[in-house]
Amino acid sequence: MAAGDSFYITTPIFYVNDVPHIGHAYTEVASDVLARWHRQRGDDTWFLTGTDEHGQKILRTAVANDTSPQAWADALVESAWKPLLETIDISNDDFIRTTEERHEKAVSLFLQRLYDDGHIYSGEYEGYYCVGCEEYKQLDDLVESADGDYAGQLVCKIHSRPVEILKEKNYFFRMSAFEQRLLDLYENTPDFVQPASVRNEIVQFVKQGLADLSISRSSFDWGIKVPWDDSHVVYVWFDALLNYVTAVGYGRDDEQFERRWPAVHIVGKDIARFHAVIWPAMLMAAGLEVPRAVFGHGWLLVGGEKMSKSKLTGIAPHEITDTFGSDAFRYYFLSAITFGQDGSFSWEDLSARYQAELANGFGNLASRVLAMVTKYFDGAIPEAASDSAILDIEKRVTDAAGAAIDVFAIDKALAVIWELVDALNLYITEQQPWVLAKDEADRERLAQVLATALHGVGTLAILLAPVLPRATAKLWSALGATGQVDAQPIDRAWEWTATGSVTPLESPLFPRIEQGE
Ligand code: ME8
Ligand code: MG
Repeated sequence: MAAGDSFYITTPIFYVNDVPHIGHAYTEVASDVLARWHRQRGDDTWFLTGTDEHGQKILRTAVANDTSPQAWADALVESAWKPLLETIDISNDDFIRTTEERHEKAVSLFLQRLYDDGHIYSGEYEGYYCVGCEEYKQLDDLVESADGDYAGQLVCKIHSRPVEILKEKNYFFRMSAFEQRLLDLYENTPDFVQPASVRNEIVQFVKQGLADLSISRSSFDWGIKVPWDDSHVVYVWFDALLNYVTAVGYGRDDEQFERRWPAVHIVGKDIARFHAVIWPAMLMAAGLEVPRAVFGHGWLLVGGEKMSKSKLTGIAPHEITDTFGSDAFRYYFLSAITFGQDGSFSWEDLSARYQAELANGFGNLASRVLAMVTKYFDGAIPEAASDSAILDIEKRVTDAAGAAIDVFAIDKALAVIWELVDALNLYITEQQPWVLAKDEADRERLAQVLATALHGVGTLAILLAPVLPRATAKLWSALGATGQVDAQPIDRAWEWTATGSVTPLESPLFPRIEQGE
C-alpha cells in the first residue's frame, strides 16, 4: 500500500450480554496495532469498534436480570465495554452501538432498498436456531450431548447448549443468487479472506451450495423493525453486519462513505463465515463494494478449548494489565501467538516473556544507553555517524516490519523488530563502551558507539509505538526527541535524527514484577 491511502479497519461489534474477556481484547489490540501503524505511515486511517445490542441473546439476558434490554445494554456499554478500550489503550476513531439512531435508520434504508430490488421474499422457516451463536443451524453444526444437563439433546457444537426448533413466517434474503459471484470473488481476489486456512473453509462451504437466509423474526421484538412489516424485526446478524457501513455514513453522509469504504475486517475465525459469505452477498445485492479483506484470527484457548463467556472460562483483561501494564498485554498476545492461529494463554509464559523480552531485552537496552550518554557525555547527544552495520539493520528491519504488517503478520513484524533489539544489545556487549570510557584516546570511538546505540533505540521507539504506546512515549521524551513518537513516519523510522540532549529514565520502562504480586 502506498502511504496516504484510505485505510478503514474494524473489529467485530461485541455482544453486550456479558463483560469482555481477553479474547475480545485480543481482537481489539490486533486491530489497534494495525490502525496505529497505518496512521503512523500517513494513511487516511479510520478505526471502528462497537457493540451488538439486539437479538434474543441480549433480550433474554436482560429479562433474566429483571431489566429492559436497552437499560441492560446501556449499563454494560458504560461499565464494561467502553472501559475495556481504556484498559488496553485502544485508539478507535468511533464506537458504534446498534441501538443508535444513525444505525437503525440506515439499516431500514438498506433493507428497503433490497426489498424494492427484489432480493427479499417472504417464506416459511423451519429449522434449528442457536441463541448463543444467534445463528440458524444445520444438522452437522449440532451434536447429541453425551452427558450433563442436556444428555440426549441436540446441542450446538460451539456453545454446548440445546438449540431451539423454529417454525416461523420470515422474510428471506436471496443469498443463493450470489453463490457464483462469491466464488468468483474468492478466486479473483485470493486475499479477500485470510489466512489461507479460513479461506479454504469458506470456499468449501460456499461450494456446497448456498441457501437463502432468513433475515427477520416475529416471535420477539428486540430489534430493528422491518420497514414494510412492523410485526417483524431484522435478524440480528443482518442488523449487526451493517454497522460497518452505517458508522461511516451509509445513507447519511455520502462524502464520508466514499472516503472510508471499503473496510478491512478483523474478526475471530468463529464469525468469518458471516463476514466472508453473508456480508459480501448483502453488499453485492445493494450494489456496494465488498470489503477490502476479512481476516479471521485464531482463538485464545483455555485448557484446549476456546475461551468463552458462556463456558465461564473468560479472564478479564484488567487481571493482566493491573500487574503487567497495558503495553505488556498488547505485546504479549501479538508476539506470542502467530496471528491467524490459535494460541494458549498462560501466566508463566506471559511472565517469562515480559521479563526476557520487555524488561531485559528492550527496557534494559533503553535504560543503559540513556544512562551511558548521561554519564559519559553529560546527556549531550554525541555527534557521530552511526556504525553502518547497525544502520543497515535498522533499514532492513523497518522495511521488513512494514511488509509484515501489510500481510497482517503482526507477530512477524514484532519478531523482526526484536532482531534490532538483539543486535543493539549484542553491539553494546561487544563494543564495551564502559571500557572505551576509561581511555581518553577512545573518546571518539565511544561517541560513535553511543551515537549508534542511541539512534537504534530511537528507531525502536518509532517502530514500537503502535504496540507499546506508553513505553515509547516515555522513551521518546527521554531521548530529547521532538514531536510525538507516534507522529514519526514509521516507514522511514531509521531516518530520524537525534539532536540536543537526553535525560535518564526515572524508572524502568518495564519494572520488575515481584513474585506473587
Ligand atoms: O460474535 N479468542 O460477538 P461476540 C479470540 N456480535 N477471540 C475471541 C475469543 C477467543 N477465545 N472469544 C471471543 C459476535 N473472541 C457478534 C459479532 S460483528 C458484525 C458481530 C472475539 O461478543 C473474536 O473477535 O460473540 C470473536 O470473533 C468475537 O470476540 C466474538 O464476539
Ligand atoms: Mg460469541
